[in-house]
Amino acid sequence: MKLSKLLFSFATTLLLSSQSFADSAVIDLSSSPYPYTTGKDIFHHVCAACHMQDAKGATGAGHFPALAGNHKLVTPEYMKFVVMNGQKGMPPFRDQLTNSQIAETINYVRSNFGNHYTDKVTAEDVAKFRLIFLGAFYEIIIYSIYNGCFSTTSIYHSSSRD
Ligand code: HEC
Repeated sequence: MKLSKLLFSFATTLLLSSQSFADSAVIDLSSSPYPYTTGKDIFHHVCAACHMQDAKGATGAGHFPALAGNHKLVTPEYMKFVVMNGQKGMPPFRDQLTNSQIAETINYVRSNFGNHYTDKVTAEDVAKFRLIFLGAFYEIIIYSIYNGCFSTTSIYHSSSRD
């Protein structure tokens, strides 16, 4: 089998499986190692280890930014991104917290500690965020295949014969 065909079927399989993955709407963890359900509990048991109980952060062995009165939290997207993917010294939580736990924590932090943002994030928003990343991954693969990035036998040859 030609490499281009092989890659094409690989891409198709990926697309089909991503479709059924999306359909089944289980873009979430099956369970979290943390037993907490409220944003308050998650913040004080998980995040406060670094950001401190008053969310004012700390500087010492490392720099842990304050989440209290933090103007960067104005957009929930930023917080979703950092909590899910981590950033520098902060570990990613996408494989540690469920969609609902992430949403609850974001809502708690954004409406406490001197933050007064009233727009809420839902578990569905977080699920979409997981999907966006998955989607971007597939897009890169498909794009690379169609642009012949992986292909030694150019994809143009096989298509120009039709
Ligand atoms: C192991 C320590 C640690 C834990 C636990 C932790 N963080 Fe962080 N967090 C950090 C560090 C360090 C940074 C700064 C990263 C950087 O330099 O960009 C940070 C940055 C952030 C930022 C971005 C702040 C800004 O001003 O840019 C947010 C939001 C955040 N953390 C939220 C959380 C939430 C919510 C939790 C709990 C689910 C959490 N963090 C748990 C260490 C931690």
